[in-house]
Amino acid sequence: MANSPDSSRLAWLTAEVARHQRLYHEQDDPEISDAAYDVLVRELEALEEQLGLTADQRRSQVVGHQGRREFAPVTHAHPMLSLNNAFGEEELEAFDQRLEGLLGVSGLRYAADPKFDGLAISLVYQAGELRQAATRGDGLTGEDVTHNIRTIGDIPSRLQGQDWPDLLEVRGEVYMAKSDFQALNEEQASRSERLFANPRNAAAGSLRQLDATVTARRRLRFFAYGCGAVWSGAPQDHSELLVLLSAWGFPVESRRIAQADLQAVKGFLQGLLADRSSLDYEIDGAVIRLESQLLCQRAGFVAKAPRFALAYKFPAEQASTELLEIEVQVGRTGSLTPVARLAPVRVGGVTVTNATLHNEDEIRRKDLYIGDTVWVRRAGDVIPEVLGPILSLRPQHARPFVMPSRCPACGGPVERLEGEAVRRCLSGLSCRAQQREALLHFVGRRAMDIEGLGEKRIDQLMMAGLVQKVSDLYRLKASDLLGLERAGEKSVQNLLDQIEQSRQTSLSRLIYALGIRHVGEQTARDLALHFKSLEALLVADEQTLQQAPEVGPVVAASIADFMQDPAVREELSRLAQEVQISRLDDRPLPTDAGLAETSGLASGPLAGQSVVLTGTLHSMTRDQATDRIMRLGGKVVGSVSAKTQLVIAGEQAGSKLQKAQALGLRVLDEAGFLEFLQSIDSQEIKP
Ligand code: IVH
Repeated sequence: MANSPDSSRLAWLTAEVARHQRLYHEQDDPEISDAAYDVLVRELEALEEQLGLTADQRRSQVVGHQGRREFAPVTHAHPMLSLNNAFGEEELEAFDQRLEGLLGVSGLRYAADPKFDGLAISLVYQAGELRQAATRGDGLTGEDVTHNIRTIGDIPSRLQGQDWPDLLEVRGEVYMAKSDFQALNEEQASRSERLFANPRNAAAGSLRQLDATVTARRRLRFFAYGCGAVWSGAPQDHSELLVLLSAWGFPVESRRIAQADLQAVKGFLQGLLADRSSLDYEIDGAVIRLESQLLCQRAGFVAKAPRFALAYKFPAEQASTELLEIEVQVGRTGSLTPVARLAPVRVGGVTVTNATLHNEDEIRRKDLYIGDTVWVRRAGDVIPEVLGPILSLRPQHARPFVMPSRCPACGGPVERLEGEAVRRCLSGLSCRAQQREALLHFVGRRAMDIEGLGEKRIDQLMMAGLVQKVSDLYRLKASDLLGLERAGEKSVQNLLDQIEQSRQTSLSRLIYALGIRHVGEQTARDLALHFKSLEALLVADEQTLQQAPEVGPVVAASIADFMQDPAVREELSRLAQEVQISRLDDRPLPTDAGLAETSGLASGPLAGQSVVLTGTLHSMTRDQATDRIMRLGGKVVGSVSAKTQLVIAGEQAGSKLQKAQALGLRVLDEAGFLEFLQSIDSQEIKP
């Protein structure tokens, strides 16, 4: 195989895996994500196998790394093994069946707990005193980190309770909480020091400090998950062992299951995955093992891992990939948003190809260049986020992004108003991109509700020159449409019926459908109920507009600005001929004007919940916040009571916040609210 493609691939993979192990274990500064590393190792394993390499020729079998020389080596009395991975329910079932076959026992019982994403530590206690603490290293020999471990408050220097064996080796994970990690990185940034890629690297970097006072300042934590060896008289079941460890003073995660059958394990995994982003520590899956120590002994080990336990891996929430390009999207109101085009990468269980970068300042703050390898994160349902570049991988051809000084869609002028983060195209409805977004908004479910007009159809109609403005939709004829691709007689008739149906509408829907900046559904409803006709709204000046409930100077200026545009006025008179306004509003009315209550929906993440908005929000108007809450099924009420489920407290929130705190209600600040919205925002960024 001297110079075969396989042998050169093997050489490359071997070197690459070794390099990443060094970066990870010695320098606490990985270049690639765990998931990407796993892919490399899996390929290497397969190739080693295929080429018939012996066990000691196999790089993939090296667990961890020897470590730096600064810490004294410690030989583990019992090797610290690694675990075989499973990446889905099928592999979990195969594990269960393998064990049943091997042990000749059916209905096996398991213990399962989260797989903490920190670093494995062995703690040796003699006569109840902590004597030595070591990292895993290569599994056989680790590093002596006793001094640093003594600074961790979670780890008892003396065992509590009684009945512990004279010699006890506790194993567990040292980790950094997400909240502490964030605070640490903020502090690092304020001192212009290197940022840590994730909590695990921060924990590893903090523990491997020659100066223990540095470790002490970093808030590290610990979870115990087992013992190096069992002693005579030790409990028969793993879960009982954990109960003992807890009694002796070790933190043991209570979020685990004991004596579970395979079905219960699956349920546990689903629940854990669903709650993953709300935990204050990072996990990369769960560890599942046989309860019975006796059966564990009988099952034994293969190569570097036990047969009786399994690491069930969740999809990686963070991955690295190439930033191919930064494109600029033009929104409905002309806002220019830079969007990252990424080389496709699996993260959080989905393939991510683009991510919003919000605005030019954000790109500068994150120091992103086109061509960089970047970290991408996607936790749970949260939309993907580019965290930052891996500077050590910046190629020579990488180039900084320049925000265009003209609109990329229409070539027209753009402006960035003072105090605003985004630039805007000033061409209004004569900009094609804004036309397209305006059309999509107009036909949307909460607006004119014209089904069958998705992005593709709108693009097609625009390309064919059939539709430019919203009023054009009402002039479409079957003969226009029948020649188009994917437009059979039936679908054309359906579409025309839908358009016809939308002609009968309410004033509030129509106002909302116009897509005026700052006018969400609630404001549209307020305007409809106050002005009662489109004509009255058209002639209203800013002062008159402000007489409508909840309309302040910013919203009033935006409406007046919109209505003054001659193109808009022309379009509105055309629309007025096409649609018939049969009612002011077609959604439930506020129940109590005094409380400014807006009814919620029967479904959605906030279904039936009472939400109070208080204080000032900076990222959205009060109307927009109300609008979002309503769409999620919540209802916004004016005062805090024991019946309130959620309080959104912006800046300078006063007595309502105090009352909420006194009542122990759930309170979100602006950042928390945004995070919450993001986490349920299913809106995809358009390709
Ligand atoms: S049990 C023989 N339980 O995963 C089984 N390991 O083990 C020994 N890890 O780096 C491991 N959370 O530090 C076990 N709840 C947990 C764990 C856990 C994280 C780590 C462990 C090691 C890797 C493989």
